[in-house]
Amino acid sequence: MAGPVPVASSLSDIYTVDAIGTQAKRWNNLLARFQTIYGQPAEFVARSPGRVNIIGEHIDYSLYPVLPMAITADSLLAVSTNVASTNTKEGHYKIKIANVQDAKFPAHEFDIPYEAVDIDATVHEWTNYFKSGLRGALELLRKKHGNDFEPKSMQILMDGTVPAGGGLSSSAAFVSSSALAVMVANGEKTVDKTELTELAIVSERAVGVNSGGMDQSASVFSERGSALFVSFTPSLKARPVSFPKTNPELTFLIAQSFVTADKFVTGPVHYNLRVVECSLAAAYLNAVLNPPGTQLPSDASPLSVSLHGFHETYFALQEHSSGATKSKSTESQLEELVALTAEKLDKRDGYTREEIAAVLNISVDELNKKFTSRFPVRAEKFKLRQRALHVFSEALRVLKFMSLLEQQPTNTDDTSEYNAQLGDLLNQTQDSCRDVYECSCKEIDELCSIARKAGSYGSRLTGAGWGGCSVHLVPAGKVKAVREAWEREYYSKLDLSEEQKEAAVVVSKPGSGSAVYLVDDKPGPVVVDDRDRGSEVY
Ligand code: ATP
Ligand code: GLA
Ligand code: MG
Repeated sequence: MAGPVPVASSLSDIYTVDAIGTQAKRWNNLLARFQTIYGQPAEFVARSPGRVNIIGEHIDYSLYPVLPMAITADSLLAVSTNVASTNTKEGHYKIKIANVQDAKFPAHEFDIPYEAVDIDATVHEWTNYFKSGLRGALELLRKKHGNDFEPKSMQILMDGTVPAGGGLSSSAAFVSSSALAVMVANGEKTVDKTELTELAIVSERAVGVNSGGMDQSASVFSERGSALFVSFTPSLKARPVSFPKTNPELTFLIAQSFVTADKFVTGPVHYNLRVVECSLAAAYLNAVLNPPGTQLPSDASPLSVSLHGFHETYFALQEHSSGATKSKSTESQLEELVALTAEKLDKRDGYTREEIAAVLNISVDELNKKFTSRFPVRAEKFKLRQRALHVFSEALRVLKFMSLLEQQPTNTDDTSEYNAQLGDLLNQTQDSCRDVYECSCKEIDELCSIARKAGSYGSRLTGAGWGGCSVHLVPAGKVKAVREAWEREYYSKLDLSEEQKEAAVVVSKPGSGSAVYLVDDKPGPVVVDDRDRGSEVY
């Protein structure tokens, strides 16, 4: 899985056959518009997809493994570095960036000093996502080529089809494709997938959301036809996972709620607050369960202290003091942590800053500095019990889901029972997200309950939640019934445009990850496959 980002020689390397027709039109339109706007052809296109998460919600920033897959919808950045330097300020390079949806995302031009990329995270501006990819990529390029490295000017046209704020991670698709575009524009012949993912994870935080690493990993590493098991410790690793053959056959349906969840705006009370609550829960459990003075390891989680770090430290110390020779399985460790959390974090209405600071033996000022200064949050009380219970139990569900996938169904003529076991785990995730982690919303709950009644094995929110998208594991024969039930009981009650109606529900097949397409080599319309090289086919 590790290795360089592939260079596609045709669209067939990127998309499945059924998507090629639409995609070829879209790519040709992008390249033609690039020519019109900038008066010259693009040199290359950098591409990264959105993702749907199958299981493992809100646990990536606590550094537990997750199981997402890439979708077909993606972010494309057509790029040329042939920018006239006549009116660029001394010591600066120029970035001209435009979007095919120019009414929604207006074009900008920036002169950026060689040394630093300034991002104002207090303004919600679409180009901040490009700048965050730019900043991360330049840091990596400086590490490789030295501090006096001079970035190239770029002119860019973007076309993104991942719905923004829809839970399918348009932001990670955009940041990953931006960072990839900057690397290629600056002459990197190969871009390492792990390096690209790691820099995209850290740099997306510059837009003001303290996110984990699932979305960028899924966007960069995914392979067509497989889901992706992503683990974050001891270092970032991703491996493809295939679903066994089942009868009835399984289909993943993604359904939009059309409740836009803007993480940037609601971060202080939703997403960023959950990240703080999880890290505070780790610190609190460490203080009450580990020997006095135990320090948690500083790790790759957004606040450097994670529930996974606590988990490892706790069992390492237990084994050391009991002299145990055989480690407990991760499953039984997680079960133990669920029980310990329920016992030790007994305040259901949450903990004040003063209460937590007293247990951690630090001042409230120190607590604020460490946990809430870079990404401010608004809360009187922190629900440490509920957040830790969700994280440990969700991490356990991921392991159970993975072991089901590895086991394969026993009765291959009828795998209904096996399918239902997979579905149950998704339903349990939804219950936990709704009741314990409090990241669902009534519209998502409704979509899930309609789907289950119409035959879905398992239905849940996907991505950050509080709106956005839901994912459903449906037997192939019930897809029609589930779609009809949503139309009747949910979508027909909303005022949707034709375009929205069409995008409301999609059958999701695992798609491929990031890729680069070099236009230079192949003038004319995009290549669909080798036989069609250079000739207009659509
Ligand atoms: P989630 O993170 O819940 O999976 P998401 O990534 O779609 O969903 P956000 O993280 O809030 O949602 O990111 C959405 C932001 O990304 C938009 O507000 C916009 O600034 C930027 N963005 C997404 N798609 C595009 C696009 N096609 N063109 C320009 N900017 C885009
Ligand atoms: C968002 C974040 C991810 C992850 C999910 C919830 O998509 O960007 O890192 O935390 O929410 O699982
Ligand atoms: Mg996002």
